[in-house]
Amino acid sequence: MPSILVTGVSSGIGNALMRKAVAEGWNAIGTVRDDVSPGAYDLPDGVALYRLDLKYASAVENFAERLIAEHGVPDVVVNNAGYTLYAPIEETSGQAMRDIFEVNALAPITLIQSLLPAMRARGSGVIVNITSLGGRLVFPFFGTYNASKHALEGFSEGLWHELQPFGVKVKAVEPGYVDTPIYKAMEGRRSPKGAYGPYLEAMNRFSEGVTKRTSPERAADEVWAAIVDSSDRLRYPVAAYARVLLAARRVFGDLLFMRFMHKRWMGK
Ligand SMILES: NC(=O)c1ccc[n+]([C@@H]2O[C@H](COP(=O)([O-])OP(=O)(O)OC[C@H]3O[C@@H](n4cnc5c(N)ncnc54)[C@H](OP(=O)(O)O)[C@@H]3O)[C@@H](O)[C@H]2O)c1
Repeated sequence: MPSILVTGVSSGIGNALMRKAVAEGWNAIGTVRDDVSPGAYDLPDGVALYRLDLKYASAVENFAERLIAEHGVPDVVVNNAGYTLYAPIEETSGQAMRDIFEVNALAPITLIQSLLPAMRARGSGVIVNITSLGGRLVFPFFGTYNASKHALEGFSEGLWHELQPFGVKVKAVEPGYVDTPIYKAMEGRRSPKGAYGPYLEAMNRFSEGVTKRTSPERAADEVWAAIVDSSDRLRYPVAAYARVLLAARRVFGDLLFMRFMHKRWMGK
């Protein structure tokens, strides 16, 4: 039975992906930050849960050791856990920036580094990094978050080259507007004040206007299609919104696309 590890399965895309993996008959392993009983997250009993906070590199290394000892190296490793920040770059502290880069970009790489020797020795495996549409373009006030996802995109492309000789596949999956708790980060900015206030409000209106969000289950189906795709494709935009925006940027070029979206996003 193939095995899959997914980080961050308490909610959203990771949770739906765990359920999908169990339904497909895979050996499913997930990480959470809290209670390790699957029932706490509506997951089937067969899911093996581990507690892991990605903020701490040593915790990631210790987890990888335990995982290998107890389950061996999974056939598929999905770096899904992550969070967003919604704030002007000027108002984001250096510590908040370091924290989000640690969790969204560096921890996934630490996990990959810890598992790679065994994957290379086996000569097979699939690494899936859940990046973002915001790993390919940048939304105002999501700049710090998007920069962390650009970093993960860069690592993914580097690994794609480096791991081909060893039979390990690398996939960057890029969701755009999936209906999950991640957007709670915007709630702290409901009545924004200060110099950026009116522009934050415009962006709030834009985001609230995106009512056709993809469900986590649909997104998980798309992630699954990427997992079982035996081609050497690297990038998989997930959800129609991501595909349309990336196609528009390709067609119109960077600057025209940015000018057009700037008006829609910031109202100016
Ligand atoms: N939803 C979208 O539209 C969208 C768009 C682009 C990219 N993505 C990416 O998709 C992935 C899944 O997000 P989602 O939308 O499904 O959001 P979500 O429901 O909020 O899930 C995020 C998961 O990451 C975990 N997590 C957050 N910080 C962590 C940390 N320090 N250590 C360990 N786990 C941590 C969360 O655990 P807790 O419950 O403990 O917080 C949760 O399980 C993320 O990488 C996100 O950036 C989502």
